[in-house]
Amino acid sequence: MNNSVDISLFFLFFLAIASVHAVEKHDEGEILYHRHSCNQCHGVEGKMPKSDMIPKIGGRDAEFIKRESVAIIGGSRKTSAMTMHDKTQSEAIMSCDVGPSDEELGQIAAWLSGR
Ligand code: HEC
Repeated sequence: MNNSVDISLFFLFFLAIASVHAVEKHDEGEILYHRHSCNQCHGVEGKMPKSDMIPKIGGRDAEFIKRESVAIIGGSRKTSAMTMHDKTQSEAIMSCDVGPSDEELGQIAAWLSGR
C-alpha cells in the first residue's frame, strides 16, 4: 500500500515537472516567433496569414514546421517562400540581429503545433 502511494506521488511529481517544462518551452517558442518576425507574415499564432500566398502554420505537426522552415531558411526548399524568408533574413542582418537557428526553429515549431 505504502509503496503504491510512493509510486503515485513520484508520478505526480514527474508530471508536474514535465508540464512546467512544457509551458516554459512553448513560451520561449512564442517569444522567438515574434523576435524572428514570423508573425509579420504568418500572423497571430500562425493562423492569420497576411496574404493568400502565405500558408497557415499554426496547429500543424511540429516535425513538419521545423523541417520545412529549416529547409526554406537554409535554402534547400526553393520556392517563393525562400525569397520572402530571405528578405526577412537580410533585414535581420541589416539590423544587426541574427536569423533563427535550427534549435530556435524547433522551439517555434513546438509552440506553433500547440496552437
Ligand atoms: C516575409 C514573409 C514571411 C516571413 C517573415 C516568414 N514566412 Fe514562412 N512562409 C512565407 C511564405 C510566402 C510561405 C509559402 C511559400 C511557398 O509556397 O512555398 C511560407 C512557408 C512557411 C512554411 C511551410 C508551410 C507549408 O505549408 O509548406 C513554414 C513552416 C514557415 N513558413 C515557417 C516560418 C517561420 C518559422 C518563420 C519565422 C522564422 C517564417 N515562416 C517567416 C512567408 C513568410
